Amino acid sequence: MKINGIAYRSVWRDQAGSAVRIFDQTRLPWAVEELRLSRWEDCAEAIRSMRVRGAPLIGAVAAYGVALAMEADAGTLDPVLEALNATRPTAINLRWALDRQRSRLHNLPPAQRAAAAWAEADAIADDDAETCRRIGENGLPLLAEIAARKGRVQVLTHCNAGWLATVDWGTALAPIYMAHDTGLDVHVWVDETRPRNQGAALTAFELGAHGVKHTVVADNAGGHLMQHGEVDIVLVGTDRVTRQGDVANKIGTYLKALAAHDNGVPFWVALPHSTLDMRVRDGVAEIPIEERGAAEVTEMTGRTADGRIETVRVVADGSGAANPAFDVTPARLVTGLVTERGRCAANEAALLAMYPEKA
Ligand code: MRU
Repeated sequence: MKINGIAYRSVWRDQAGSAVRIFDQTRLPWAVEELRLSRWEDCAEAIRSMRVRGAPLIGAVAAYGVALAMEADAGTLDPVLEALNATRPTAINLRWALDRQRSRLHNLPPAQRAAAAWAEADAIADDDAETCRRIGENGLPLLAEIAARKGRVQVLTHCNAGWLATVDWGTALAPIYMAHDTGLDVHVWVDETRPRNQGAALTAFELGAHGVKHTVVADNAGGHLMQHGEVDIVLVGTDRVTRQGDVANKIGTYLKALAAHDNGVPFWVALPHSTLDMRVRDGVAEIPIEERGAAEVTEMTGRTADGRIETVRVVADGSGAANPAFDVTPARLVTGLVTERGRCAANEAALLAMYPEKA
């Protein structure tokens, strides 16, 4: 996708040697800064501190981390896989990418591991970009149908499921980019997505850079907008979809699904194959939910009028805070899933028909 007319991916190989580059997403939207990651520990730190985030992107960066590790010391495969897997718990794409590296590398002699790991990481990144492009194609008819009926389409999205969360295109935002590019009148309500503000900072940045009409709203505004007919469809990404179609995504997604259900607004979830976890059935009971630091809730970071980036406390002194980073939307609240293979219902039979090889 493009920034100022220049096409980027969100992770790419450094031309100047064994390293990859990312955008430091903790600096967006105030500064577009590239970061060079030349050691596997840099990749782990970037994932843990959310310089890169979004389920598919953390998988791709972890895969590149394995390549960097194999180049430094091909004997470290198992501990490196374990350390990278421990960086974030909820998105299954991380384990999926590391499992791919494990199967590709573990039977190879150490001397062959680095080249194979780079090739596998490139394949994972290319696969994600193409997968997300197809998700865009398969989600576009949902938006085109509404636009044909109403003249325009109003989408509500939560968190950031755009190209910054994947290698390219995004998941939930891919159909929106395609709708915009084909000339549909599309407007996006962007949930700010406290506590880390991925919506206000990242989704708004992406949509703005691409020229897509959007409005940032407080997280609590969605229900009101739906009651007043201002939302035609909710479209979100996901960090893990279970065998029975439960959907883990950024905290607050469940509340949007409840409001959508109450107001008869379709609630669609976009996912690549790498987000499907057939080993898990009941998402509420079984998906590990990341608990992040209280400071993300008690503090906010922003730009002052004179251009300084500052962090301020917004919670009363002495009050503690809890910070569950994801929630699970039960399948019964999900209208349908958009995948790279097409659209399907959120249930086991439909998922098995879509992905028979994962049975
Ligand atoms: O904590 P984050 O920013 O990594 O959470 C990201 C999300 O919840 C996204 O909605 C999800 O990964 C889908 S990305 C295509």
